[in-house]
Amino acid sequence: MINLLDIDDLNQAEIARILQLSHLENPPQVLRGKGTALVFEKPSLRTRNSSEMAIVQLGGYPISIKNEEISIGTRESVQDIARTLACYHSLIGARVFEHAKLESMTQALQESGLKVPIINLLSDQAHPSQILADLLTLQDHFSNLEDLEIAYFGDSNNVCKSLVLAAGIYNMKVSVASPPGYELDTHFMDKLERLGFEVNLTSDPVEAARGCDVLYTDVWTSMGQEDEAQKREKIFSPYQISNKLLNEASPQAMVMHCLPAHRGQEIQAEVIDGPQSLVWQQAKNRMNSFRGFLLWLFETYPDIG
Ligand code: CP
Ligand code: NVA
Repeated sequence: MINLLDIDDLNQAEIARILQLSHLENPPQVLRGKGTALVFEKPSLRTRNSSEMAIVQLGGYPISIKNEEISIGTRESVQDIARTLACYHSLIGARVFEHAKLESMTQALQESGLKVPIINLLSDQAHPSQILADLLTLQDHFSNLEDLEIAYFGDSNNVCKSLVLAAGIYNMKVSVASPPGYELDTHFMDKLERLGFEVNLTSDPVEAARGCDVLYTDVWTSMGQEDEAQKREKIFSPYQISNKLLNEASPQAMVMHCLPAHRGQEIQAEVIDGPQSLVWQQAKNRMNSFRGFLLWLFETYPDIG
C-alpha cells in the first residue's frame, strides 16, 4: 500500500511515470464517484487549490477540512480522524505541523486493514507534492534531470529536505548553502547516508551558486516559526537569491521558489519576476503533477479506496 510521506517513497521509474502521466490531456476519470479528504492543520493556497482541482479533473469529489473544524489531537486523536475519514474517502491528504502525525495516520489505517493512502501535503519534515511539481518543471525546461546541478539557499527546511532526496533519486549534484546552526539536521543526514545519497553542505552561497543550473529557495521562516521571523531575517540575509548570486551560476541557470515568496528577503524581486524564473511554471505544475500522481496511484493500486 502506497503512502506518500516523502518523495523517497517513490523510486526514479515511478516518478518518471508520474511525470509522463502529468502531461495527459483528457485523463481517465479514475476518481469517478470517489471522495477524497484533504486535511489542513495550517494555511495553504497552492496545495489546497491544485489538489482539489486535480481531483475534480479525475472525476473525484474533494472535501478540504481546516483544523478549526476538527481540532486535531484535541477534539479527537489523529488516529481516530484518519479511521473516520477512511470510512468515506478513497484517499486522505494531510498538511500537519509534526511529521509524526502522518506516521500515526498511516499506522492506524494499516492496523485496521484499510486500503486508503495517506498523502503528505506538507509537514515540518517534508513536502513531496511540491517536489513532484518541481521535477515536472525541471524536466519540461531542461529535458534531462540526471545532469542537473542544483543549489538550495536558506533554511534547511521541509522543502529543502525533499529537494535533496529528489536530487539523490536522480543522481543530481546538489548543494545546500545555509547559515551555521541552520544546516540539515543529523537525523536527515543519517537518512541520506543510509540511502547512499550525497549533498554538499556549505555556509558560502557563492560556492553553492558557482556554475549551477538551478537556484532554489524558500521562505526563511516556515509556518509555525513566526516568533523567530525577526531573528531569521538578519541571519539569512546573505543567502538571498540576488542578481549578483545568479551571475555566479551557469548562463542558462533558472531560479525556483515553491511560494509563498517574500520579495527583498529570500529572493530579489528582479530575480523572481525576471526571465530566469520558473516559479509560475512550478505553481501551475502543482495541479498537473498531483493529477499525474493520482493517475499513477490508481493505475498501480487499483484496489485502493
Ligand atoms: N508551495 C505551497 O505548498 O504553497 P501553499 O503553502 O500555499 O500550499
Ligand atoms: N517551508 C515552508 C513551505 C511553504 C510552502 C513552510 O513550511 O511554511
